[in-house]
Amino acid sequence: MNREKVLVTSALPYANGKIHLGHLSGAYLPADIYVRYKRLKGDDIIYICGSDEHGVPITISADKEKVSPKVVIDRFHEQNKIAFEKFGMSFDIYSRTSLPVHHKTAQEFFKCYYDQGLLIEKKSLQFYDEKAKMFLPDRYVEGTCPKCGYEEARSDECEKCGSLYEPSELINPKSKITGETPVLKETSHWYFPLGKYQERLEKYIDEMNEKYGWKDNVLQYCRGWFKDGLKDRAYTRDLDWGVKVPLDGAEGKVLYVWFEAVLGYISATKELSEQRNDPELWKRYWQDTSTKYLAFIGKDNIVFHTIIFPAMLMGWNDVKDAKYLLPQNVPANEFLNFEGKKFSKSRGWGVDVIEFLDMFPADPLRYTLAANLPENKDTDFYWKEFQGRNNGELADILGNFINRTFTFAFKHFDGIVPQVGKLEKIDNDMIELLKSYPGKISGLIERYKIKDAVFEMMNLARAGNKYFNDSEPWVTVKKDKEKCAAAINICLNAINTLAEIFEPVVPFSSGKIFKMLDTEKCSWEKCGELNLKAGHKLNQPEILFTKIEDKMIEEQINKLGKVETEVPQDEEITIDDFKKVKLKTAVVVAAEKVKKSEKLLKLQIDLGSEKRQVVAGIAKSYEPEQLIGKKILVVANLKPAKLFGLDSQGMILALDTSEEGKVKIIEVDESISIGTAAK
Ligand code: 2FM
Ligand code: ZN
Repeated sequence: MNREKVLVTSALPYANGKIHLGHLSGAYLPADIYVRYKRLKGDDIIYICGSDEHGVPITISADKEKVSPKVVIDRFHEQNKIAFEKFGMSFDIYSRTSLPVHHKTAQEFFKCYYDQGLLIEKKSLQFYDEKAKMFLPDRYVEGTCPKCGYEEARSDECEKCGSLYEPSELINPKSKITGETPVLKETSHWYFPLGKYQERLEKYIDEMNEKYGWKDNVLQYCRGWFKDGLKDRAYTRDLDWGVKVPLDGAEGKVLYVWFEAVLGYISATKELSEQRNDPELWKRYWQDTSTKYLAFIGKDNIVFHTIIFPAMLMGWNDVKDAKYLLPQNVPANEFLNFEGKKFSKSRGWGVDVIEFLDMFPADPLRYTLAANLPENKDTDFYWKEFQGRNNGELADILGNFINRTFTFAFKHFDGIVPQVGKLEKIDNDMIELLKSYPGKISGLIERYKIKDAVFEMMNLARAGNKYFNDSEPWVTVKKDKEKCAAAINICLNAINTLAEIFEPVVPFSSGKIFKMLDTEKCSWEKCGELNLKAGHKLNQPEILFTKIEDKMIEEQINKLGKVETEVPQDEEITIDDFKKVKLKTAVVVAAEKVKKSEKLLKLQIDLGSEKRQVVAGIAKSYEPEQLIGKKILVVANLKPAKLFGLDSQGMILALDTSEEGKVKIIEVDESISIGTAAK
């Protein structure tokens, strides 16, 4: 058999919020269905995903919570990973872009462009918030889109019409931090010359489309950008959270999140290589022309995956021997809305995955979303539709067919698959239908028509019920047992086929059905055949789909639009966790301001046994001279870090005050000697 080698990625979600149903429908469920199907077919496939842990939204969330971005990403990375697991996502790895392997990879790419003289250093005008005293990266600024008039557009990108523009073009800009009108101030950045690649990108997309059939919605977006002409894009940002620009003199600058996040797919695959102790694995999928690479995303990510990422890969491939594959297809979906409106956490509109799965099992959700994927246009999740699909399709059609067949097989054939025996037209038609199914489903899934594939899957269950009805086994059992046996044999084999073809959509239920049949998945090509032979013993059936009561759905509908203020839960730690933190008293012996930083002070502290330098974010609260001689409490075993290019060995404990941005350091009683451990 000719095994295809396939690399599948799904957009790396930002680790600053929970995964909701809209995310699932856009980039995750379709990819998971595709991947599971390919595995059933026996293809050689890996599925890569992980958290996107840089970018301004994360720093905004951290600022709001008054914690470091690390606290935010750690929390959401873990939560989202669990949510995906509960939903049945079958990633080979769920990595994260804060890992050193990613920083190294992203810096290598930047250096590759820099060294070949590709990057253009340009001074530009960026929005600067004079009140907050900082440059405002894209999403800190909101204004009116110069192209379509959307009033909540970002500084350089409009979510509504997808346009990219210069910050100076944004109409009526406002800082999202202070609400003030920001000024445009000069800063210097490196730019990636996207325009240089336009011709090659157009050719690449045309070729891929011709060979592999790209989706119309994706092509339309791309053509729109080409029509406007691709412009140089800033590759760096003035921020301290992200992948540092690997050049001397570039302190305080990081790579623009999109220019590194897309490389997260590569670094995640490198991590998978490491986990599997197979150092060449990532190269086999990224650098071997026999692999096909598919990038599943939502429509807001199209430009990054069809233009920016391919241009970056071309920029690398032009000068390096080991060349990367460009996406063969980018089957982007449109958006899923919720009960007629956009998902909005602040307006209490929508539901996140964990919340959903605390109330209902994963498979009915997977099925409902899959049956209504926004493949060509935006679609909506409606609670009533969810109930209808669960009760009227999963339970009443699929579940009912399985249940009535099993009940009959146990009642009349002792739970043993009966002989097929003599066949009539009605039986042969059903057998032919079963045989046609793997090909039918393949034809649709291979063309990313997953919604249609799901419709066909349920049609097979419908056909099963019709066949059961038309064969009237409850009549033939008395009159013609051989005929009855044939019908039940075929029904059980139809269930076996259903378990396999439905596996990508409802994997948990499919697993239960295989258990009931006491069998396993077979090779895809054979799955429509009569693989369950006469004499095979069945296991007792179990309930597959439980009906959802009206009351439960009404409760959910009533909750809509009501905002529950979320109190962040403190994560519990054990006493052993706490003991890992070594708190010690120290005295401040010198203090000075950190050049170009509004927030930081550089302190020299004495811990009795040693002296250390600590960089602390207390400049807004203390003048350096106020600190000399203060006895303080420090975390003595904190991993050393570099802040603003300065070494910092420890952390000073301080308390928040009611004044925003100000803290009060914890002072220790005079009588306590320095170097004393706190317990
Ligand atoms: O839109 C998002 O959630 C982005 N974090 C997607 C990144 S995809 C890739 F670049 F990593
Ligand atoms: Zn717009």
